[in-house]
Amino acid sequence: MCSFFTTLHLLTVVIIDVFCLYYDMCLAMSLLQVLLVFAKEDSQSNGFCWACEKANFRCSMARTPESALECFLEKHHDLVIIDHRHSRHFDAEALCRSIRAVNSSENTVIVAVVKRYVISFFLFRYVENANMMACYNELLQLEHGEVRAQFKLRAGNAIFTALEQSQEAIEITSEDQVIQYVNPAYESIMGYQQGELIGKEIIEVPKSEKNKPDLLETINSCIRKGKEWQGIYYAKKKNGDSIQQNVKITPVIGQGGSQRRHSSMARIHSMTIEAPITKVINIINAAQESSPMPVAEALDRVLEILRTTELYSPQLGTKDEDPHTNDLVGGLMTDGLRRLSGNEYIFSTKQPHHLPSHLTTPLSLNDIPPRIAQTMENEDSWDFDIFNLEAATLKRPLTYLGLKIFSRFGVCEFLNCPEATLRSWLQVIEANYHSSNSYHNSTHAADVLHATAYFLCKERVKQSLDPIDEVAALIAATVHDVDHPGRTNSFLCNAGSELAILYNDTAVLESHHAALAFQITTRDDKCNIFKNIERNEYRTLRQAIIDMVLATEMTKHFEHVNKFVNSINKPLAALEENGNRILVKRMLIKCADISNPCRPQELCIEWAGRISEEYFAQTDEEKRQGLPVVMPVFDRNTCSIPKSQISFIDYFITDMFDAWDAFADLPNLMQHLDNNFKYWKGLDERKLHSLRPPPE
Ligand SMILES: *[C@@H]1O[C@H](CO)[C@@H](O)[C@H](O)[C@H]1NC(C)=O
Ligand SMILES: *[C@@H]1O[C@H](CO)[C@@H](O)[C@H](O)[C@H]1NC(C)=O
Ligand SMILES: *[C@@H]1O[C@H](CO)[C@@H](O)[C@H](O)[C@H]1NC(C)=O
Repeated sequence: MCSFFTTLHLLTVVIIDVFCLYYDMCLAMSLLQVLLVFAKEDSQSNGFCWACEKANFRCSMARTPESALECFLEKHHDLVIIDHRHSRHFDAEALCRSIRAVNSSENTVIVAVVKRYVISFFLFRYVENANMMACYNELLQLEHGEVRAQFKLRAGNAIFTALEQSQEAIEITSEDQVIQYVNPAYESIMGYQQGELIGKEIIEVPKSEKNKPDLLETINSCIRKGKEWQGIYYAKKKNGDSIQQNVKITPVIGQGGSQRRHSSMARIHSMTIEAPITKVINIINAAQESSPMPVAEALDRVLEILRTTELYSPQLGTKDEDPHTNDLVGGLMTDGLRRLSGNEYIFSTKQPHHLPSHLTTPLSLNDIPPRIAQTMENEDSWDFDIFNLEAATLKRPLTYLGLKIFSRFGVCEFLNCPEATLRSWLQVIEANYHSSNSYHNSTHAADVLHATAYFLCKERVKQSLDPIDEVAALIAATVHDVDHPGRTNSFLCNAGSELAILYNDTAVLESHHAALAFQITTRDDKCNIFKNIERNEYRTLRQAIIDMVLATEMTKHFEHVNKFVNSINKPLAALEENGNRILVKRMLIKCADISNPCRPQELCIEWAGRISEEYFAQTDEEKRQGLPVVMPVFDRNTCSIPKSQISFIDYFITDMFDAWDAFADLPNLMQHLDNNFKYWKGLDERKLHSLRPPPE
């Protein structure tokens, strides 16, 4: 905002100078007074004492509410920090109220030290952290934020009092020349009452013959440039008399302070090793120094968001949210957040299957029985029916579809590996999927492989990727859920399973799929499809496969989708870069992995039945074992499958496929998605909980 003072006598300059002086004085001269209220000395109170000393603030310590109040009445501290961690010592809220009851406390900032983030009575909270630098940073932030704002308020009050007393006529107007304030001297000199002027346009400089003809223009152009104008003109009083005035007009840009509070942030950030995000924050900080207030404030919001760790996860409110969404988010997007409820339960992992020697397998693609070959004829169509293949192959759809698709893409040629090796590899990978899982068995893997191959044929995808990316994507799709136990990451963490312990509760399953896939592949030459490629090529391929398998982890869902969206919004030329290829590959496998709602309706319904059954089985087991129930809505006795599908589509699918469609052009998928969504909505409106409507 830009407003300016019109001061009608030259003398008034002094007031402006005094203003500056006072303003600076009150910020620069007064040492910040801090009152610490801690019943007992501990590392936290010591942390703040040390921090006060380092920041050169005056610090008093009180042990009881009584002595705290007494001390406050004497010194009127700017900042009071109250220990609110143990209610047994004293009532922190009562103390806060008594301090607030003191007249001069309105500009005091009161901070409560709490054990963890809780909704509380206190506006400002500091979560217990005795680290001295943390205390120090907190003090600096407070000083440059809230405490300074309170200083300004106090200074503002004092200045208005001074203006009221001044002999000089003073008028404050907004940028568009609406009068916001006139002081009593102005009223008496000009003969108007405040009420007649405030909110009105500024009284025009009269085009009197006494004023120079271009006077108004000169003043305006001066003000527009942010410069002061000073001179003489003739104004009209209310009674019509003309009056000669010495005038000084001063534009005030921003809110009167030249220093902003960001210097401290820059200081804090220069202490850390410069990660890219730190560089970004520093660049924004620097830009803020020279931006007008609204921009600086908007950038403040940006910085606030950038400093959080969950940059890509939408913030879900805990209340009012749909329980299905909550459970899906809780069940799919968290790892170790829900801890063991008591009895330790060790999840038993099976030993990985070795290549089963007795399996009768086709010798080459030509030997595939005609019945099976026929079911795969239209495998390049999106509407391909994987369940037919599952039945025709006696539950070995991955091996057969793998052979066909890998040959269509020339994977053996690329890897320089015999088809027999590929066949063995596909068999052993498929054997390591658990046929007992109702969802995560090899049919799901075959389905993801199918979707991946379909996406790889889309023009824009082909343009963005290299042959090695295609091979990596097909392999990643094949192995991406290998040895899946049919339980979610949260379950494994809660159960304290060996895998969760091995992978520190972080991306447990996805890490396992990736690691196991390479173990099985490389431990036996018979199925090592990588054995004939160069070391460098192997490393690139391996890296790409691992990256894609890990991208299927749902905790990072929004990160991957948002990064992808941000990158495709940039000009096409930028897409050639390696970074964007990674984003495209991640998005590709993610979309393939959860494309069920975009399949033809019958297939979509079958998948929904399978995933629900797997989740029900998990809930059953959680109840049996006394583990926390990760997704309570997936209880076979109460679950509404249509509702859970609607939530899943709303929360995870719609935005992702909108973006993927915008990139890869997939109108048929979007049409299916629309149909399926309407189908679930229809069932839900009829209050049905089942997969299908009951027979008429
Ligand atoms: C607090 O201020 C009010 C008016 O603002 C005044 O009437 C009252 O006496 C003051 N109390 C104290 C304790 O100064
Ligand atoms: C996958 O699970 C379903 C049960 O939901 C089962 O009918 C199917 O045969 C399984 N497929 C494989 C390949 O194990
Ligand atoms: C798990 O954490 C430990 C200790 O921080 C670390 O040494 C180990 O490498 C981690 N393991 C994985 C798989 O991240």
